[in-house]
Amino acid sequence: MSASDMINDCPVLDLRNIQFSLTHAKYLLSEEAIIQTQIKDFKLGNALADAFIVDKLFILEMHTNAVSGVSLEFEGRDIISIKDFSREEINHIFKTAKSMEPIAAKGSEMLRGKILATLFFEASTRTRLSFEAAMHKLGGSTIGFAEAEIASVKKGENLADTIRTVDKYANVIALRHPLEGAARLAAEFAEVPVINGGSGAEEHPTQALLDLYTINKEKGRIDGLKIAFAGDLRYGRTVHSLAYALSLYNVELYLVSPESLKMRREVLQTIKEKIPVIEKTSLEKIVPLVDVLYVTRIQKERFPDPAEYAKVKGSYKIDLQTLSEAKKDLIVLHPLPRVDEIAAEVDNTPYARYFQQVWNGIVVRMALLSLILGATK
Ligand code: CP
Repeated sequence: MSASDMINDCPVLDLRNIQFSLTHAKYLLSEEAIIQTQIKDFKLGNALADAFIVDKLFILEMHTNAVSGVSLEFEGRDIISIKDFSREEINHIFKTAKSMEPIAAKGSEMLRGKILATLFFEASTRTRLSFEAAMHKLGGSTIGFAEAEIASVKKGENLADTIRTVDKYANVIALRHPLEGAARLAAEFAEVPVINGGSGAEEHPTQALLDLYTINKEKGRIDGLKIAFAGDLRYGRTVHSLAYALSLYNVELYLVSPESLKMRREVLQTIKEKIPVIEKTSLEKIVPLVDVLYVTRIQKERFPDPAEYAKVKGSYKIDLQTLSEAKKDLIVLHPLPRVDEIAAEVDNTPYARYFQQVWNGIVVRMALLSLILGATK
């Protein structure tokens, strides 16, 4: 079937005649005429035709939600902990992120005039740059700093005053801070929404959303999966947020770590009430069982004692030998950065999906920015 046949046969095209009050639906509909003309002119291929149909399906779902009275409030909301989100809300973020995939390729003006401040008191490549890229792709702009050394905290300014100041410059703040609770504190002082880009070893909620989005996209579902985390489950904030998020689904969770880096007790207590959790120290017997292997770095910078780090350094190394008994359709994820826990020889296998995760970080963060700034309902 050709791209234009696919478009003509698409059962939701008649939705063009329906008036939508939802801003984002209007945006997609206004793009439709241009895309359709380009497809008819054979300037664009199947990939864009697919994106076009995805857009139509998104509009259909938006319409269905509007008709069924489902109302999800994101505008003006802080994103501090993944525990603040329901499964229905996460599903809505997924749908919005999916609608962002073609927009990420073309760019848009949805957030023109809006400013994102990225205040990163700790090192970051992906979180800060993907938030900034997401904002630029939506037509907005960014300000901020990438290390505390160049901000006025160096002169003794506290976090509350920094936030009260940046609040006057920006429409939304993304914050990374070494202290647990810092994002919650910032949200208390800010009028504009605050997004937690990582708070010490506590949480990293937007990473959990992009991890879940990746699992759903790669496996077609989350329910029914067997998922293993391997590495530093004590100091790794991404696994804390992802564990809370996965406890909303029907999954089996395997937690593989050295004894000294086991999952934090408060996370375990919460998730064990909702899903089966199996703790192990060896990966060998777990790899053949699971559908998703989520690997994390040992978080050297969070160890109070370097001698303790030396004991667990290099505990797990995923290589082709480790994966020799894995299911054919296993996917290996990693929030990155990695040090030596996944060998480079895995990168070119069908298991490796960690760089797809990086791309998904853009569309998920585009979705979050557009939702909390009210450009999408
Ligand atoms: N995944 C993640 O948080 O990466 P960065 O530390 O590079 O932002």
